[in-house]
Amino acid sequence: MTKIAPSILAADISRLKEEVEDVAKGGADYIHVDVMDGHFVPNITIGPFVVEAVHPHTSLPLDVHLMIEEPDRYIEEFVKAGADIVSVHVEACRHLHRTIELIHEQGAKAGVVINPATPVESIKHVLQNVDLILLMTVNPGFGGQTFISEVLPKIEQVKKMLMESNHQAEIEVDGGVNEETAAACIEAGADVLVAGSAVFKKDNRKNAIESIRNNYK
Ligand code: DX5
Ligand code: ZN
Repeated sequence: MTKIAPSILAADISRLKEEVEDVAKGGADYIHVDVMDGHFVPNITIGPFVVEAVHPHTSLPLDVHLMIEEPDRYIEEFVKAGADIVSVHVEACRHLHRTIELIHEQGAKAGVVINPATPVESIKHVLQNVDLILLMTVNPGFGGQTFISEVLPKIEQVKKMLMESNHQAEIEVDGGVNEETAAACIEAGADVLVAGSAVFKKDNRKNAIESIRNNYK
């Protein structure tokens, strides 16, 4: 069954504990945390202390998406704060393989992320080392943007690359995922769908999660 990872970027931050509990009750599989530094992306959001604040209030894995330059400097802090999965952008890492090793050494699962304009070939040589591949379907920086459907063939390409290398890793899709765009992502091979606005901006989060997930099967 497709996993759903609501992004707290779209939650009511003043009630973060209740918001996280609400989506957990509604059937969420991960809690997606969008970390932005104002350099790699044109927006500043949250740091390790928010991860630390959320951590005691959920048993769901915290899926931390780092949209920051030089992520190596903060990996230890995020894992100590409670991150279960730490994903870094190919475009932000000078020594990607080393960064992935660092995440594993800290005891978290490692994910690698590519922007819509970045080819899947850029992750070919680290594919065997990661637990998750995150394909951006918007240009990172903000919630509520429009899904870029040109990314869909990349999901199929990654799926094929994983099968050829006989390696198990989850394929996650992030940006503009809602009950209309979810089906194409699942059909192309996505295992995890991040959804910010399509979950947190709805009154009934359980219905929202179900209608994204059950859109296809
Ligand atoms: C974009 C973030 C996404 C975003 C998703 O930079 O990485 O996770 O919060 O929000 P929606 O689902 O509203 O596009
Ligand atoms: Zn994200």
